[in-house]
Amino acid sequence: MVGRIVSLARGERRLVLIVGFLGLASAVFEGMGLSFLIPLAGLATGEPLDFTIPVIGPVLAWLDARIGLGGGEVVALVVGFFCLGIIVGYLNMVLSTVLSMRFAHALRIRVFETALDRPLSAIESLPSGKFVNDLTSETWKVCDALFVVIGAVVKIITFVVFLGFLFLLSPFYTFVLLAMTAVMAVVVHFATRTVRALGLAAVAANESFMAYVWDALGGLRVIRGFGREPHERNRFAESSDRVRGIFTRMQIISGMVGPITQLMTVGMVATILGIALVRGDSIATLLGFLAIAYRMQPRVSALLSARTKLRSLEGSLLSIESALAAQPAASQPQAKLFRGLRRGVVIDGISARYPNAERPALHDISCSFPYGQVTAVAGYSGAGKSTLVALLLRFIEPERGRILIDGVPLSEIDPESWHQRIAFVEQNAFLFNASVRENIGYGDLEADDEAIREAARIAQAEEFVDALPKGFETMIGENGVRLSQGQRQRIALARSLLRKPDVLILDEATNALDRPTERALRNAVEGAGSARAIIVIAHRRETIEKADQVIVLDQGRIVEAGTPAELGQSGGVYARLYLDEIPMRDA
Ligand SMILES: Nc1ncnc2c1ncn2[C@@H]1O[C@H](COP(=O)(O)OP(=O)(O)O)[C@@H](O)[C@H]1O
Ligand SMILES: [Mg+2]
Repeated sequence: MVGRIVSLARGERRLVLIVGFLGLASAVFEGMGLSFLIPLAGLATGEPLDFTIPVIGPVLAWLDARIGLGGGEVVALVVGFFCLGIIVGYLNMVLSTVLSMRFAHALRIRVFETALDRPLSAIESLPSGKFVNDLTSETWKVCDALFVVIGAVVKIITFVVFLGFLFLLSPFYTFVLLAMTAVMAVVVHFATRTVRALGLAAVAANESFMAYVWDALGGLRVIRGFGREPHERNRFAESSDRVRGIFTRMQIISGMVGPITQLMTVGMVATILGIALVRGDSIATLLGFLAIAYRMQPRVSALLSARTKLRSLEGSLLSIESALAAQPAASQPQAKLFRGLRRGVVIDGISARYPNAERPALHDISCSFPYGQVTAVAGYSGAGKSTLVALLLRFIEPERGRILIDGVPLSEIDPESWHQRIAFVEQNAFLFNASVRENIGYGDLEADDEAIREAARIAQAEEFVDALPKGFETMIGENGVRLSQGQRQRIALARSLLRKPDVLILDEATNALDRPTERALRNAVEGAGSARAIIVIAHRRETIEKADQVIVLDQGRIVEAGTPAELGQSGGVYARLYLDEIPMRDA
C-alpha cells in the first residue's frame, strides 16, 4: 500500500524528500538535546563531567577543551538543540502544507481529466455520487495517506536513531524495550483489525450519500409536486446516519492505539526501573535512558496509529486508483486531422448497440448527408434517430459498418478536430451556469461580441436576451434567471451557429413548439444551409418539408427515404407521421 501511495505522488518526489529530511533533522536535534540531559543530571548531582558516556562523551570533551563546560553551558546546549528541533519542525510543517495542497490539487486534476477522456457511455453509466465523492472527499484522504506515509518514514528513522542512542547507553535495556514494543505492536494490530473493512464501507457510504444528494436536488420539483418531503427527509437521514455510524466506529477503534500504547509504556518504565533497582545500575545513565525512551513513546504510538490509519484509508486509495485507471476512449496515434467538409457524410451499413442492450438500436443503416443539403430524419420515438446522431458525434461507436467523411472513415479522424467543426443542439438544451454571452460564446471561444449578437439574432434570441435584466451579461443556468424551454433552445442554437459548423445537427431542437423557436430553426436551416450539411430531427411538418431529403427510421431500420414530396405520396410511416396525424406518439 505504501508503494502505491508513493507512486501516486511521484510528481512531488523532491518535496517529499525534503519534507522527510527536515522531519529527520528535527528529530536528530531533539535527540541531541535529550542526550545532553545526561551530563546535566551528572553536574546537578555534583559529579564531574563524564567524557566516557557513549556518543556525546567525545563531543563533551571537544567542547570542554574549547570553551570549558560548566552547568550554564550545558543548559544552553540542551535548550539550543531543543529550539533548533522546534524551528526545523515548524519549517517542516510549512513545507508539508505546501506539499499536501499541491498533491491534492494534482490528484483532483488527474481524476477530472481521466473522466473527461473516458468514453461517454462509461461516464454516463458511472454512479454520479462516486465521481463527486472522489473529487471532493477521497482525494483529500489519499493526500492524508501520503502524509501518514511520510510521517511514518520519519518516525521510523527517528525511532532507529533513538534506538541507536539507547543501544549505546545500554544494550541490555534496549533489548528489554524492543521486546516490549513488539508486544505492543501485536496487541494494537489485533485490537484494530476491523479498520480496513470500515474504511471500505466508509467510501461506499459516502458515495451513496453524495449520489442521494445529487438525485434529490435534481428531483426537487418532483419531490415538492408529489408532496414527498417527509419521505425524502427519512431517506436523507438514513443515508447520513450510515455515514455517521461508520465514521464513529472507525474513530473509536483507531483511537484505541493511544491508550493501549500509553498503558503499556507505563508498564515498560516500571519494569525497567524495577530491573535497575535489582541490578543496582547508575541512576544518572538510567535517567537519560528513560528520558529518551519516554520521548520515543509518542513516536511508537504514532507509528502504530499511522499503520492503523493507513489501513482505514485503503478504501479511499482503491477508489482513486480505480478512477485513475479508467480506460480512455479509443484514440489513434496516426489519426488524420479534419480540416473541413467538401462532399458530405456517408453512413455505410452501420449497426449500433448500447452496452448491455439486447437488441441493436440501429440495423444495417446506409444513407448520406451531402454537403450543402438539409436532411431530415423522421420516425417514432425510440426509432433510433438520436442514436444515429450519437454515432456522428462519436458518443458511441458502431458495432458494424463505417461512417465516411469525404470518403475517410470517421474512426481514422482525430476526434477533437472533428468535434471542433460540428455542432449540435439537443432536445434538453444544456446551458452552463454562466452569462448568456459566455453560453453562446462557448461555440467559439474567440468570437467577439458582434459575432455573438449576430448568432443570437439568427437564432431569434437577441430580442428576449436584450430584455433580460443585464442583457447578454445576465447569468443563466442553475443559479441564474429561469428561461423557458424555447428560450433555452434558442440560446443553444445560437451557440451552435456561432461556430459556423460544417455539420449542424438539430435533434428535436424545436420541441418547445413556440413560434420564435420554430422561426429560429427555419433561419438556421435556410440561412446558411448551402454552406454545410444539416441534419434535422423535428416533429413539425413545416420544418421537415423544407428538407432536401427525408430518411424515415422505424425500429432501427430505414423504412423510407426520398424528398418530402415523394414521401408524402407514398402512404408509409412518413405520411402517417406528418400528414394524417398530429405526432402524438413521440411526446
Ligand atoms: N443510452 C442508452 N442506453 C441504452 N439504450 C438506449 C440508450 N439510448 C437509447 N437507447 C435505446 O435505443 C433505441 C433508440 O433510441 P433513440 O435513438 O434515442 O430513439 P429516438 O431518438 O428515435 O427517439 C431505443 O430503443 C432506446 O431505448
Ligand atoms: Mg431522440
